[in-house]
Amino acid sequence: MEESPPRINSSNRQNKMKKEVTIRKAFMEDVPLIHKIINANARHNTLLPRSLQELYENLRDFFIAEIPEKGVVGCCALHITWADLAEVKSLAVVNEVRNKGVGKSLVEACLREARSLGVRRVFALTMIPEFFVKLGFSNISKNELPHKVWSECVRCPYFPDCPEQAVLIVLK
Ligand SMILES: CC(C)(COP(=O)(O)OP(=O)(O)OC[C@H]1O[C@@H](n2cnc3c(N)ncnc32)[C@H](O)[C@@H]1OP(=O)(O)O)[C@@H](O)C(=O)NCCC(=O)NCCS
Repeated sequence: MEESPPRINSSNRQNKMKKEVTIRKAFMEDVPLIHKIINANARHNTLLPRSLQELYENLRDFFIAEIPEKGVVGCCALHITWADLAEVKSLAVVNEVRNKGVGKSLVEACLREARSLGVRRVFALTMIPEFFVKLGFSNISKNELPHKVWSECVRCPYFPDCPEQAVLIVLK
């Protein structure tokens, strides 16, 4: 009888990938790839597109995930919006390495940075609240966020009928 292949569960897969992935702050030279990854996903309306100018201006917000031989495979930004409030945005991982814990590691890096800066509340606006809930975020009403947060909404393809869910985590 043929032997069935060993079963790899989600946490084994994630642990294996964790060893290969480096999460680090972005450098100038990463911007073209960050631009490509974000805008590839923006075409499916899951993310707002970002111009190169925006990316250069906000470079210090960005973390990237890097794998030897593959290079940059994901990105995520932590943008401070208000006293004690920051947003996780522009989160994207290339198709090839999805469901291996890369997205989770990127958001965790943003949360560590928020903590280190003394920012206690971090939110995201998302079509996939389940992903964030797994990381400790809770669903909240958008009305709980300050108006300043909505400055980018006019650029969203869904504006003014926003289907995104607001999620928030309060850091300890
Ligand atoms: C969302 C995205 C960044 C997730 O990246 P990823 O590296 O595949 O995610 P991870 O492997 O770290 O997943 C962590 C957990 O979230 C779950 N998850 C992943 N994608 C999910 C999704 N779309 N919906 C719900 N849960 C999801 C995983 O199953 C995993 O759960 P587990 O820990 O119980 O196994 C990636 O799918 C992506 O780039 N999507 C397109 C852009 C996008 O939608 N960005 C988010 C905008 S807010």
